[in-house]
Order: sequence, then C-alpha cells, then structure tokens
Amino acid sequence: METKKKYFIETFGCQMNVHDSEKIAGMLIDLGYEESSSKENSDIIVFNTCCIRETAELKIMAKIGDTKALKKKNPNLLIVVCGCMTQQKGMSDILKKRFPFINLVIGTHNLNELEDYIKEYNYKSKFNSIVWDKEQEIKEDTKIYRTSKYNAWVNIMYGCNNFCTYCIVPYVRGRERSRKVEDIVKEIEELVKENKYKTITLLGQNVNSYGHDFNDGRTNFVYLLNEICKINGDFKINFMSSHPKDFSFELIDFIATHNKMSRALHLPVQSGSNSVLKAMNRRYTAEHYKALVDEIYKKIPGVSLTTDIIVGFPGETEQDFEETCDLLKHCRFSSIFGFVYSRRNGTPAATFENQVPDKVKQNRITRLFELQHQISREELQKMIDNKFEGVIEKDEKGNLILKTFNGKSIKLNEDNLEIGQVRKVLVTDIVNNELQGKVV
Ligand code: 5AD
Ligand code: SF4
Repeated sequence: METKKKYFIETFGCQMNVHDSEKIAGMLIDLGYEESSSKENSDIIVFNTCCIRETAELKIMAKIGDTKALKKKNPNLLIVVCGCMTQQKGMSDILKKRFPFINLVIGTHNLNELEDYIKEYNYKSKFNSIVWDKEQEIKEDTKIYRTSKYNAWVNIMYGCNNFCTYCIVPYVRGRERSRKVEDIVKEIEELVKENKYKTITLLGQNVNSYGHDFNDGRTNFVYLLNEICKINGDFKINFMSSHPKDFSFELIDFIATHNKMSRALHLPVQSGSNSVLKAMNRRYTAEHYKALVDEIYKKIPGVSLTTDIIVGFPGETEQDFEETCDLLKHCRFSSIFGFVYSRRNGTPAATFENQVPDKVKQNRITRLFELQHQISREELQKMIDNKFEGVIEKDEKGNLILKTFNGKSIKLNEDNLEIGQVRKVLVTDIVNNELQGKVV
C-alpha cells in the first residue's frame, strides 16, 4: 500500500490564524497529504505565523531555526512560512538570511494559492518568497479541514481599516473586505445541516463594520445576523472581534431578542483612560464603553463579557493605569486577555517618545491580573446553585464538560452523556477555579 505524504502545521496567534490553518490543511489534503502527529515524521511543515507582539515573533523564529536539523536529515522536507509575519516589509529578506533552508515564504494575500504553488513549482532546492502587496479578491471555493467537532469558524470579512496606533494588523492583513451574505449563509447552512455543528463563530478583525464596503445602504452586521438566524437548525452564533466604536444599541437589542445568539461577548476595550484611548486612536471614551456595557447587562441577562487590555502603552501614567483598573471593577468581565504593549515597527506608536519602561509594564500587568482574578473568582462564585444551558463536549483532557451558551465550561462527573447534546446543568461547586456541576 502506498503511504501518504504527511503534513504538520504549527499555528501561532489568533482564531483567524487557527481557521486559516484549517484552510491550509484542506489544501494539503487535496494534494494527497495526511496530518502528522509530529514534525519529525512530516514531508511538509507549515508555520502559520503571527506578528502582533514581539514575543510571538521571537518564538516563531526559534521554532523555524529548530527545523534546520530536520531538513539536514531529510533534504526533501518542505518548509513553508506563511501568515502575518511574512507580510511585514523586509521580512522575506530577514528570513532568507537567517533560514536559507526555508522552501517557501507566502504572504497573507495569496495564501489561497499555496496549493497551486506547491503543485506547480519545485521548491526542494531553493528559497522562494511570494508575498503580494495587494489584497486579492475573496476566493469562495476553498476546502476547509475543520479541527473542532463542536465549533465551526466562518470568516465574514478580512482586513481592518481602523489603524489603532499600536497595531500591525492593518499593514499585514490589508483593508476591510466583506464576504457576500449569500456565500456566508450557504456555508453555514451546510455546517448546521443534520445538527453537525452547534456553534458557529463568525470571524473578522472588526465584525461590527461588516458590509460597510458594499455601500448599498442595507448590508450591515445586524442584517447579516438576521439572515443567519433564519437558517433552520439548533445552533448558536458567536462572533469576534468587536470594536466598541461600532457596537450599536441595535446589535444589543438584536442579541437580546434572538435565541440563536450566544450570550458570550468579547468586546476589546484596551484601556480605561481617555487620554490613552485617544493616543491609541480607538475613537471612543471610557464613558462610552461603560455605557455600552451597562446596556448589555441590562438588556441581555446572563451575558458573560470578556475583553482585551494593553498595559504600558506609550505615555500611560500610573493614573491612566488606575483608570483601567477602575474600568475592570465597573465592567466585571468574566475574564480578560491582558497584554504588555509591544513596539511594532511601522506602526505610529512605535515612534512615540514616551515609551514605558519594561519594569513598569511588568508591574502593571501583574497587578492587572491580580485584580481580574479576584473579579473572575467572585463572578464564578455567583454561578453556584444556578442552572445553565449548553452543549456537552469533551475538554482537552478528555473530561466531559458543559460548554454553556454564555461561554463557561462546567465539569461534569457523569459518564452517560452524549457529546453534542444540549443539556441543562446545575453548578454545584468550584474546585481549583473550575466550575463543577450535574445535569438536571
Ligand atoms: N502590543 C500589545 N498588544 C497588542 N494587541 C494588538 N497589538 C498589540 C501590541 N502592539 C492586542 C490588542 C488586541 C489583541 C488581539 O492583541 O489587545 O485586541
Ligand atoms: Fe488592530 Fe485596531 Fe484593527 Fe483590532 S481594530 S485589528 S486592534 S487596528
């Protein structure tokens, strides 16, 4: 029997990249490859990279360096580097100099053509770089190898127009481009057929500006959600990420009144200080954000909120940081993603003079997490003796859990539960910061 060639994809960064890797896997399977459990046994290794923070970039560089030995052992091994990092100015040259054994560097705009490039060219002997400056038209007939049994990711748009001053994304992902409503609806109809997927997560850098590029006076994010809600089936709709400047009261009302909408919302705030928000070019104030959150809690009972915070943005004073802490106390997120500001070449904030010393940044992130842990614990405590609905899933360790419709995981000490079923669970306890419960 002929043995199939094997692929290994290593993904860095956000959900968008995780989903891109599902598309890369789809292309490689199409070419006759199968998934490998390790780099050592692979015929092709793909690094799907992220450059949003320096820490990610350093980690990726080290991982690429590690494959030199594998390449020595197996000169036929193909090494591909794709994703956001490759799209940065001058990056191809840096990669070529440091890792001449890479076979192909491919940018974010032409990733869809990876399959053709591998098929048509012989990359075995030399370093090749194909990175386009311009966005391509959205390709609709991509094959996707879905890695989650429970949740299916669906791109609704690509790129970002916001140019927050700290962020590299608009430079490496290009301008906003929305997929057509019909194409998105068609994809989701297939995904929820015969109860296949119970959760659909819509992806975009700023989903709230979905459809603005059509300029047709009709298509926007709420319009799209309404069309998706009309699809028959028992499923929930999640989305990420949102931008507070575009998160409308109409959207809040829509979520509140539509059963298919998940009750878990991710609404990145970045800072609680108006002067920092201004310098970040976020185009909303802390007061606006708090008012949005108040409205969300009022209209959507049981909602659970998460956010992103950056500490140590240039010019952030102790007073500014305290205002971020005050915002956390006001908004009572169930959890946060906290980051230390990372200077990204090519972004405006990288040139700001008042950079915050590393020691101060580290001190602030520690204090931020301490405060949030306390809030998260208190919020979990409030769940005891209450019932929650969700889907029975298995966690990474193989334990049965209920993934609630407001984004929480409840551990279940029961065996006879069918995965994928929708059930109601009573929270009985918290052990090691994990909710425990039983089906009712
Ligand atoms: N430094 C630190 N964090 C950043 N993020 C984006 N750019 C940077 C940066 N230069 C964070 C923001 C964003 C999340 C995806 O990553 O909080 O919401
Ligand atoms: Fe980056 Fe801001 Fe766009 Fe988000 S909205 S991807 S933080 S520029």
